[in-house]
Amino acid sequence: MALPIALQGKLDFPVIAAPMFLVSGPDLVCACCLNGIGGTFPALNQRTSEGYAEWLNEIEATLEGKSHAPFGINLIVHKTNPRLEADLKLTVEHKVPFVITSLGAVSDLVDAVHSYGGLVFHDVTNMRHAEKAIQAGVDGLILVSAGAGGHAGTLHPFAFIKEIKNNFDTCVIQSGAISTGEQVLAAKAAGADLAYIGTRFIATKESMADQEYKNMLVAARAEDIVYTPKVSGIPANFIRQSLEDNGISLDNIDNPDIDLGKELIDEAKAWKTIWSAGHGAGNITDIPTTAELCSKLKKEYQDQLNALQAE
Ligand SMILES: Cc1cc2nc3c(=O)[nH]c(=O)nc-3n(C[C@H](O)[C@H](O)[C@H](O)COP(=O)(O)O)c2cc1C
Repeated sequence: MALPIALQGKLDFPVIAAPMFLVSGPDLVCACCLNGIGGTFPALNQRTSEGYAEWLNEIEATLEGKSHAPFGINLIVHKTNPRLEADLKLTVEHKVPFVITSLGAVSDLVDAVHSYGGLVFHDVTNMRHAEKAIQAGVDGLILVSAGAGGHAGTLHPFAFIKEIKNNFDTCVIQSGAISTGEQVLAAKAAGADLAYIGTRFIATKESMADQEYKNMLVAARAEDIVYTPKVSGIPANFIRQSLEDNGISLDNIDNPDIDLGKELIDEAKAWKTIWSAGHGAGNITDIPTTAELCSKLKKEYQDQLNALQAE
């Protein structure tokens, strides 16, 4: 299936900049949208629902009257997120164009977003989650594959895309280790409708990441990315140097209990000082503006397409 009708013709380039905890804010979202790709942020990047509403107002005001791609927000659908109800209410009031749900796929939420014409895309790492999300009525699946930043999956994207497409007629958004225009094209060639890019956008001028985080990311190679549950209880990819700087031995720390409320709302040490990135880190060598990055991605995509067609 192609893009949902509500997104058709709205993106200049088949990319959504992924929501990233403590990294994506209004500046990055607006810069993405004004450069023709979907911009997103996690609602929890603001400490309160009132703060979340302020960011929505700011983004709407910046984009108003200008040609722009749609923006989206990320909601963590989990019992340890006490903000879910209030944030969903604001999302509906503001008619946020698309919502990315992580963890739970819930039909009530999908209905609420559909009520104003919004779309829901759900993060999945396996077929079982995909099936549940489709049953809940989502508009597309985000295939969070091996090598992604954050809570990555473990499936190889080539295998995962095809298996999803063989089983479900839905919009497919490919996530994991996409840092260049050639890789956006590869995701499309493998069957995805859109590419979903996180780590690459950490190293942009508009991201909220510390300068040291950006520098560490530029210096890192794919082999410096460590997939471990030992930071927050859920397996995620982190930069080895950052784990070491925080005194985390990968050999002998206990697995903490999963507590997303603590992890995400109290801005616990995890994520604030222990920096996540995906395998795409090794392809990132600069810290451009988002406008420069979008132009580069578009050029790389077109050049690669031309080269393949000329073969
Ligand atoms: C620092 C960081 C924070 C993230 N935080 C979130 C989050 O709050 N919610 C979410 O749905 N995904 C989160 N992700 C995952 C991204 O949305 C996306 O799936 C991933 O970054 C794509 O892989 P890539 O980083 O290799 O491009 C995060 C990723 C990173 C790197």
